[in-house]
Amino acid sequence: MITVEKVSFSYSNNGPRILKDIDLEIAEHEFVAVIGNNGSGKTTLAKLLNGLYLPGTGRVLIDGMDTRVPENRILIKQKVGMLFPEADKQLISSTVEEDVAFGPENLDLKQNEIRARVDNALKLLSMEDFAKHPPYLLSGGQKQKVGIAGLLAMKPSYLVLDEPASMLDEMGKREVFQALWQLNKNEGITVVLITHELPPALKADRMVFMESGQIKTQCVPEQIIYKPDLLRAMQLQPLEISIFIEAMNTAHSGLLSMEINDVDELVEELCRLKQKI
Ligand SMILES: Nc1ncnc2c1ncn2[C@@H]1O[C@H](COP(=O)(O)OP(=O)(O)OP(=O)(O)O)[C@@H](O)[C@H]1O
Ligand SMILES: [Mg+2]
Repeated sequence: MITVEKVSFSYSNNGPRILKDIDLEIAEHEFVAVIGNNGSGKTTLAKLLNGLYLPGTGRVLIDGMDTRVPENRILIKQKVGMLFPEADKQLISSTVEEDVAFGPENLDLKQNEIRARVDNALKLLSMEDFAKHPPYLLSGGQKQKVGIAGLLAMKPSYLVLDEPASMLDEMGKREVFQALWQLNKNEGITVVLITHELPPALKADRMVFMESGQIKTQCVPEQIIYKPDLLRAMQLQPLEISIFIEAMNTAHSGLLSMEINDVDELVEELCRLKQKI
Protein backbone atom coordinates (compact mmCIF):
# COMPACT_ATOMS: atom_id res chain seq x y z
CA MET A 1 0.00 0.00 0.00
CA ILE A 2 1.16 3.52 -0.81
CA THR A 3 -0.12 6.07 1.68
CA VAL A 4 0.17 9.81 1.12
CA GLU A 5 -0.83 11.59 4.32
CA LYS A 6 -1.53 15.33 4.44
CA VAL A 7 1.41 15.99 2.16
CA SER A 8 2.43 19.50 1.20
CA PHE A 9 5.48 20.31 -0.89
CA SER A 10 7.36 23.44 -2.02
CA TYR A 11 10.36 23.55 -4.33
CA SER A 12 12.08 26.17 -2.16
CA ASN A 13 11.94 27.30 1.46
CA ASN A 14 9.76 30.33 0.92
CA GLY A 15 8.32 29.17 -2.39
CA PRO A 16 4.64 28.54 -3.09
CA ARG A 17 3.09 25.28 -1.95
CA ILE A 18 2.98 23.15 -5.08
CA LEU A 19 1.17 20.28 -3.36
CA LYS A 20 -1.38 21.16 -0.71
CA ASP A 21 -2.52 18.70 1.95
CA ILE A 22 -2.73 15.70 -0.32
CA ASP A 23 -4.27 12.51 1.06
CA LEU A 24 -4.15 9.47 -1.20
CA GLU A 25 -4.07 5.72 -0.73
CA ILE A 26 -3.08 3.29 -3.45
CA ALA A 27 -3.78 -0.36 -2.67
CA GLU A 28 -1.74 -3.27 -3.94
CA HIS A 29 -2.83 -4.55 -7.37
CA GLU A 30 -4.75 -1.36 -8.13
CA PHE A 31 -4.50 0.50 -11.44
CA VAL A 32 -4.87 4.20 -10.71
CA ALA A 33 -4.93 6.88 -13.38
CA VAL A 34 -3.91 10.41 -12.37
CA ILE A 35 -5.25 13.20 -14.58
CA GLY A 36 -4.80 16.95 -14.33
CA ASN A 37 -3.93 20.08 -16.24
CA ASN A 38 -0.36 21.18 -16.92
CA GLY A 39 1.20 22.43 -13.73
CA SER A 40 -1.36 20.80 -11.42
CA GLY A 41 1.39 18.88 -9.60
CA LYS A 42 1.22 15.37 -11.09
CA THR A 43 4.95 14.97 -11.72
CA THR A 44 5.77 16.47 -8.34
CA LEU A 45 3.44 13.98 -6.66
CA ALA A 46 4.96 11.09 -8.66
CA LYS A 47 8.45 12.03 -7.49
CA LEU A 48 7.27 11.98 -3.88
CA LEU A 49 6.08 8.39 -4.31
CA ASN A 50 9.56 6.89 -4.56
CA GLY A 51 11.39 9.31 -2.33
CA LEU A 52 12.95 11.35 -5.14
CA TYR A 53 11.34 14.33 -3.36
CA LEU A 54 10.51 14.37 0.33
CA PRO A 55 7.35 15.97 1.73
CA GLY A 56 7.60 19.39 3.37
CA THR A 57 4.82 18.43 5.74
CA GLY A 58 2.94 15.14 6.04
CA ARG A 59 4.39 11.80 5.08
CA VAL A 60 4.54 9.20 2.31
CA LEU A 61 4.57 5.55 3.34
CA ILE A 62 5.46 2.68 1.02
CA ASP A 63 4.29 -0.57 2.62
CA GLY A 64 4.61 1.25 5.92
CA MET A 65 8.12 2.60 5.19
CA ASP A 66 8.43 6.37 5.55
CA THR A 67 10.25 7.93 2.56
CA ARG A 68 11.92 10.44 4.93
CA VAL A 69 13.87 7.72 6.75
CA PRO A 70 17.27 7.40 5.02
CA GLU A 71 17.57 3.65 5.78
CA ASN A 72 14.35 3.01 3.81
CA ARG A 73 15.42 4.75 0.63
CA ILE A 74 17.14 1.91 -1.22
CA LEU A 75 14.28 -0.51 -0.61
CA ILE A 76 11.69 2.12 -1.53
CA LYS A 77 13.47 2.85 -4.85
CA GLN A 78 13.39 -0.88 -5.60
CA LYS A 79 9.74 -1.25 -4.61
CA VAL A 80 8.52 1.79 -6.57
CA GLY A 81 9.71 1.83 -10.16
CA MET A 82 9.35 5.16 -11.94
CA LEU A 83 9.28 5.91 -15.66
CA PHE A 84 9.26 9.30 -17.37
CA PRO A 85 8.08 10.30 -20.88
CA GLU A 86 11.43 9.93 -22.60
CA ALA A 87 12.80 6.79 -20.99
CA ASP A 88 14.75 6.13 -24.19
CA LYS A 89 17.15 8.92 -23.21
CA GLN A 90 18.11 6.67 -20.31
CA LEU A 91 18.89 3.72 -22.58
CA ILE A 92 22.65 3.94 -22.78
CA SER A 93 23.94 0.39 -23.22
CA SER A 94 24.77 -1.17 -26.56
CA THR A 95 22.08 -3.85 -26.31
CA VAL A 96 18.58 -4.02 -24.91
CA GLU A 97 19.46 -6.81 -22.47
CA GLU A 98 22.41 -4.88 -21.05
CA ASP A 99 20.13 -1.95 -20.40
CA VAL A 100 17.55 -4.10 -18.63
CA ALA A 101 20.35 -5.68 -16.57
CA PHE A 102 21.66 -2.29 -15.42
CA GLY A 103 19.45 -2.01 -12.29
CA PRO A 104 19.84 -5.59 -11.02
CA GLU A 105 23.61 -5.43 -11.59
CA ASN A 106 23.74 -2.78 -8.89
CA LEU A 107 21.89 -5.05 -6.46
CA ASP A 108 24.77 -7.42 -5.83
CA LEU A 109 22.94 -10.41 -7.31
CA LYS A 110 24.41 -13.60 -8.78
CA GLN A 111 24.87 -13.61 -12.58
CA ASN A 112 22.26 -16.35 -13.13
CA GLU A 113 19.70 -14.41 -11.06
CA ILE A 114 20.35 -11.29 -13.16
CA ARG A 115 20.02 -13.35 -16.35
CA ALA A 116 16.68 -14.80 -15.16
CA ARG A 117 15.35 -11.36 -14.21
CA VAL A 118 16.33 -9.83 -17.56
CA ASP A 119 14.83 -12.71 -19.58
CA ASN A 120 11.64 -12.64 -17.54
CA ALA A 121 11.24 -8.85 -17.78
CA LEU A 122 11.75 -8.85 -21.56
CA LYS A 123 9.33 -11.75 -21.94
CA LEU A 124 6.64 -9.99 -19.90
CA LEU A 125 6.85 -7.10 -22.36
CA SER A 126 7.06 -9.34 -25.43
CA MET A 127 10.49 -7.88 -26.14
CA GLU A 128 12.57 -11.07 -25.84
CA ASP A 129 13.32 -11.12 -29.59
CA PHE A 130 15.01 -7.73 -29.23
CA ALA A 131 17.39 -8.71 -26.42
CA LYS A 132 20.52 -8.38 -28.57
CA HIS A 133 19.33 -5.29 -30.49
CA PRO A 134 20.87 -1.88 -29.96
CA PRO A 135 18.19 0.29 -28.27
CA TYR A 136 18.53 3.13 -30.80
CA LEU A 137 17.09 0.87 -33.54
CA LEU A 138 13.81 0.38 -31.66
CA SER A 139 10.56 2.30 -32.13
CA GLY A 140 9.50 4.82 -29.48
CA GLY A 141 6.97 2.39 -28.01
CA GLN A 142 9.53 -0.40 -27.91
CA LYS A 143 12.03 1.90 -26.16
CA GLN A 144 9.47 2.73 -23.50
CA LYS A 145 8.80 -0.97 -23.07
CA VAL A 146 12.52 -1.59 -22.56
CA GLY A 147 12.40 1.17 -19.93
CA ILE A 148 9.54 -0.65 -18.22
CA ALA A 149 11.44 -3.97 -18.49
CA GLY A 150 14.37 -2.30 -16.74
CA LEU A 151 12.05 -1.37 -13.88
CA LEU A 152 10.54 -4.87 -13.77
CA ALA A 153 13.99 -6.42 -13.46
CA MET A 154 14.16 -4.71 -10.05
CA LYS A 155 11.05 -6.72 -9.02
CA PRO A 156 9.00 -3.70 -7.99
CA SER A 157 5.59 -3.85 -6.31
CA TYR A 158 4.54 -0.51 -7.76
CA LEU A 159 5.09 1.19 -11.10
CA VAL A 160 4.62 4.94 -11.32
CA LEU A 161 4.58 6.11 -14.92
CA ASP A 162 4.63 9.79 -15.73
CA GLU A 163 3.03 10.20 -19.17
CA PRO A 164 4.96 7.21 -20.53
CA ALA A 165 3.34 7.46 -23.96
CA SER A 166 3.11 11.21 -24.44
CA MET A 167 5.91 11.27 -27.02
CA LEU A 168 4.60 8.27 -28.97
CA ASP A 169 2.40 7.82 -32.03
CA GLU A 170 -0.93 5.98 -31.76
CA MET A 171 0.65 2.56 -32.24
CA GLY A 172 3.33 3.23 -29.64
CA LYS A 173 0.73 4.48 -27.17
CA ARG A 174 -1.37 1.36 -27.64
CA GLU A 175 1.68 -0.85 -27.19
CA VAL A 176 2.70 0.81 -23.91
CA PHE A 177 -0.79 1.03 -22.40
CA GLN A 178 -1.53 -2.58 -23.34
CA ALA A 179 1.72 -3.70 -21.68
CA LEU A 180 0.84 -1.82 -18.47
CA TRP A 181 -2.64 -3.27 -18.46
CA GLN A 182 -1.27 -6.80 -18.79
CA LEU A 183 1.36 -6.29 -16.08
CA ASN A 184 -1.38 -5.13 -13.75
CA LYS A 185 -3.87 -7.88 -14.58
CA ASN A 186 -1.51 -10.84 -15.05
CA GLU A 187 1.37 -10.02 -12.70
CA GLY A 188 -0.58 -8.06 -10.08
CA ILE A 189 1.77 -5.10 -10.27
CA THR A 190 0.23 -1.90 -8.95
CA VAL A 191 0.18 0.79 -11.63
CA VAL A 192 -0.04 4.55 -11.08
CA LEU A 193 -0.41 6.05 -14.53
CA ILE A 194 -0.17 9.80 -15.01
CA THR A 195 -1.77 10.58 -18.33
CA HIS A 196 -3.44 13.20 -20.47
CA GLU A 197 -5.21 10.45 -22.39
CA LEU A 198 -8.72 9.33 -21.54
CA PRO A 199 -8.79 5.80 -23.09
CA PRO A 200 -6.17 4.22 -20.79
CA ALA A 201 -7.62 6.07 -17.79
CA LEU A 202 -11.03 4.58 -18.55
CA LYS A 203 -9.53 1.10 -18.09
CA ALA A 204 -8.15 2.00 -14.65
CA ASP A 205 -9.74 0.89 -11.38
CA ARG A 206 -9.84 4.48 -10.19
CA MET A 207 -9.33 7.95 -11.65
CA VAL A 208 -7.73 10.68 -9.53
CA PHE A 209 -8.14 14.25 -10.75
CA MET A 210 -5.63 16.90 -9.69
CA GLU A 211 -6.07 20.65 -9.78
CA SER A 212 -3.71 23.34 -8.46
CA GLY A 213 -1.75 20.97 -6.25
CA GLN A 214 -4.79 19.29 -4.75
CA ILE A 215 -6.86 16.22 -5.45
CA LYS A 216 -10.02 17.70 -6.87
CA THR A 217 -11.98 14.47 -6.98
CA GLN A 218 -11.68 10.71 -7.47
CA CYS A 219 -14.06 8.30 -9.14
CA VAL A 220 -14.37 4.96 -10.85
CA PRO A 221 -14.34 5.23 -14.67
CA GLU A 222 -18.05 4.32 -14.92
CA GLN A 223 -18.95 7.56 -13.12
CA ILE A 224 -17.17 9.68 -15.71
CA ILE A 225 -20.26 9.60 -17.94
CA TYR A 226 -21.84 12.11 -15.57
CA LYS A 227 -18.77 14.30 -15.24
CA PRO A 228 -18.40 15.91 -18.69
CA ASP A 229 -17.57 19.30 -17.15
CA LEU A 230 -14.79 17.77 -15.07
CA LEU A 231 -13.21 16.36 -18.23
CA ARG A 232 -13.61 19.69 -20.01
CA ALA A 233 -11.85 21.39 -17.09
CA MET A 234 -8.99 18.91 -17.62
CA GLN A 235 -8.85 19.80 -21.35
CA LEU A 236 -10.30 16.40 -22.22
CA GLN A 237 -13.15 15.67 -24.58
CA PRO A 238 -16.16 14.25 -22.68
CA LEU A 239 -17.46 10.86 -23.80
CA GLU A 240 -19.89 10.91 -26.73
CA ILE A 241 -22.52 9.27 -24.53
CA SER A 242 -22.18 12.14 -22.02
CA ILE A 243 -22.60 14.75 -24.76
CA PHE A 244 -25.67 12.89 -26.03
CA ILE A 245 -27.23 12.67 -22.54
CA GLU A 246 -26.43 16.35 -21.92
CA ALA A 247 -28.05 17.37 -25.21
CA MET A 248 -31.17 15.24 -24.58
CA ASN A 249 -31.59 16.57 -21.07
CA THR A 250 -31.11 20.16 -22.23
CA ALA A 251 -33.70 19.77 -24.98
CA HIS A 252 -36.17 17.85 -22.75
CA SER A 253 -35.23 18.69 -19.21
CA GLY A 254 -34.34 15.65 -17.11
CA LEU A 255 -35.65 13.25 -19.78
CA LEU A 256 -33.01 10.58 -19.26
CA SER A 257 -32.57 8.94 -15.88
CA MET A 258 -29.25 9.35 -14.07
CA GLU A 259 -28.85 5.57 -13.84
CA ILE A 260 -27.26 5.04 -17.25
CA ASN A 261 -23.86 3.38 -17.00
CA ASP A 262 -23.08 2.53 -20.60
CA VAL A 263 -24.33 2.68 -24.17
CA ASP A 264 -26.44 -0.51 -23.78
CA GLU A 265 -28.33 1.04 -20.87
CA LEU A 266 -28.79 4.25 -22.87
CA VAL A 267 -30.32 2.27 -25.74
CA GLU A 268 -32.62 0.44 -23.27
CA GLU A 269 -33.71 3.76 -21.76
CA LEU A 270 -34.39 5.24 -25.21
CA CYS A 271 -36.45 2.18 -26.19
CA ARG A 272 -38.45 2.48 -22.96
CA LEU A 273 -39.11 6.15 -23.68
CA LYS A 274 -40.16 5.36 -27.26
CA GLN A 275 -42.73 2.84 -26.01
CA LYS A 276 -44.25 5.55 -23.80
CA ILE A 277 -44.82 7.90 -26.76
N1 LIG B 1 12.07 22.06 -10.30
C1 LIG B 1 11.09 22.94 -10.06
N2 LIG B 1 11.34 24.10 -9.40
C2 LIG B 1 10.36 24.98 -9.15
N3 LIG B 1 9.06 24.81 -9.51
C3 LIG B 1 8.77 23.69 -10.17
C4 LIG B 1 9.74 22.70 -10.49
N4 LIG B 1 9.13 21.68 -11.12
C5 LIG B 1 7.83 22.02 -11.22
N5 LIG B 1 7.61 23.23 -10.66
C6 LIG B 1 6.30 23.91 -10.54
O1 LIG B 1 5.42 23.07 -9.82
C7 LIG B 1 4.11 23.10 -10.38
C8 LIG B 1 3.67 21.67 -10.65
O2 LIG B 1 4.53 21.13 -11.65
P1 LIG B 1 4.44 19.62 -12.10
O3 LIG B 1 5.53 19.38 -13.05
O4 LIG B 1 4.34 18.76 -10.91
O5 LIG B 1 3.02 19.63 -12.87
P2 LIG B 1 2.38 18.54 -13.82
O6 LIG B 1 0.97 18.36 -13.35
O7 LIG B 1 3.23 17.34 -13.89
O8 LIG B 1 2.33 19.30 -15.24
P3 LIG B 1 2.48 18.70 -16.72
O9 LIG B 1 1.12 18.17 -17.09
O10 LIG B 1 2.82 19.90 -17.54
O11 LIG B 1 3.55 17.66 -16.73
C9 LIG B 1 4.19 24.00 -11.60
O12 LIG B 1 3.70 25.26 -11.23
C10 LIG B 1 5.66 24.07 -11.91
O13 LIG B 1 5.99 25.31 -12.46
MG1 LIG C 1 4.27 16.42 -15.45
